Amino acid sequence: MKFFVDTADVDAIRDLADTGLVDGVTTNPSLIAKSGRDFVEVVKEICDIVDGPISAEVTATAYDEMVAEGRKLAKIHDNITVKVPLTRDGLKTCKSLSEEGTMVNVTLCFSANQALLAAKAGATFISPFVGRLDDIAMDGMQLISDIVEVYDNYPALMTEVLVASVRSPMHVLEAAKMGADVCTLPPDVLLALFNHPLTDKGLEAFLADWQKTGQSIL
Ligand code: E4P
Repeated sequence: MKFFVDTADVDAIRDLADTGLVDGVTTNPSLIAKSGRDFVEVVKEICDIVDGPISAEVTATAYDEMVAEGRKLAKIHDNITVKVPLTRDGLKTCKSLSEEGTMVNVTLCFSANQALLAAKAGATFISPFVGRLDDIAMDGMQLISDIVEVYDNYPALMTEVLVASVRSPMHVLEAAKMGADVCTLPPDVLLALFNHPLTDKGLEAFLADWQKTGQSIL
């Protein structure tokens, strides 16, 4: 499974990329607003840090403007993945940009039927939002299972399932068990994956015993 980082915080991205485990980055207009920085400047910096798909979202809602924004964003770097919302105009934009060879991430997906439409429109990634479904007492992970099952029935569909709106390590584990292609993770969730209290306890005991030997490896 690929791990993307879901943030526009360049320092956090640099820190996580240092682990060698980051395959891409997703941003959205809210994350850009949170960063307080210029959109294009931030996206350029992210492209310099991570060598993988970097999602940058259009903010127009009508087809012509969406395509124009998408083309402008795609010129920033070869790794730019233009993010479009799952609307009729968004999917039309997805089809046009995909046919031009631009990677497209279709976002704000909340049903398997929407995911099927996005795949038919040539999306590189479909982003189902699991956390936001959980928030309204619906089963976010069931949506991932449904999309994986539907896509598996049609091997010609090349769209990758990118699990978004991830809130906890359990979402990641369940997504991996279901065979989702990508999880995009807030930095704190990615960092939490490293942790286990028995790892800390075990390491502490090993180091204490090693110190008693008086030896050193180097
Ligand atoms: C993904 O691409 C979205 O930017 C993100 O995962 C949304 O997450 P949220 O529901 O926590 O805002």
